[in-house]
Amino acid sequence: MKPTISPSILNCDIADLRGELTKISSADVAHVDVMDNHFVPNLSWGLPVAEAVVASKILPVDAHLMIEDPDRWAPSYAEIGCQSVTFHAEAAAAPLRLARELHRIGSRVGLALRPATDIAPFVDILSEFDMILVMTVEPGFGGQSFIDSMLPKVRRTREAINAAGLEVSVQVDGGVSRRTIERAAEAGADNFVAGSAVFTADDACAEIATLRELAARHCH
Ligand code: DX5
Ligand code: ZN
Repeated sequence: MKPTISPSILNCDIADLRGELTKISSADVAHVDVMDNHFVPNLSWGLPVAEAVVASKILPVDAHLMIEDPDRWAPSYAEIGCQSVTFHAEAAAAPLRLARELHRIGSRVGLALRPATDIAPFVDILSEFDMILVMTVEPGFGGQSFIDSMLPKVRRTREAINAAGLEVSVQVDGGVSRRTIERAAEAGADNFVAGSAVFTADDACAEIATLRELAARHCH
């Protein structure tokens, strides 16, 4: 699998959203973190901002919904044209029904796991998803340190996907940088969210290229 680099715009200069998206235009997608101040202790933005990023047509949008009641809110993100919509396993009342609804609307579907949530309960329904997001920080804020003890979960997730003969992406999100990306790729991740690593770099495109190259050494 070719590595996918998904810069998170959480900590970008929101007053210059178009400029910031243009800076990362060599990425595969723009990762848009939606936080509701209930599921996580932080508030970011919602549908109108996601819609503006979609409308800019600079990059496809990978929406990461850190919100309560995704059963109610996630379909709107598919309807406005997000390429993929990821909701949290801990928040969804009926993850399978929601995944099918998002697919019916036409988006790809991701299932996100907080650090303390195991993949085991979801192994039998992996085929319902296009991506599993293994959080490598506790969700809520950018700029945190990568939690190495998540690597066994990345590995178990990749092994379960391979054992089922599926083509499902494994995304890691939180603390991904040139210092940590190889460990994640080696464990089986193929999709890498990086916020501060990309937006604090002098040259965001060069940083994206470096991350892609480091990950490609381990993505098979
Ligand atoms: C954290 C968000 C991440 C975050 C990544 O809750 O889901 O997408 O913004 O930022 P860094 O790469 O700085 O950890
Ligand atoms: Zn995220």
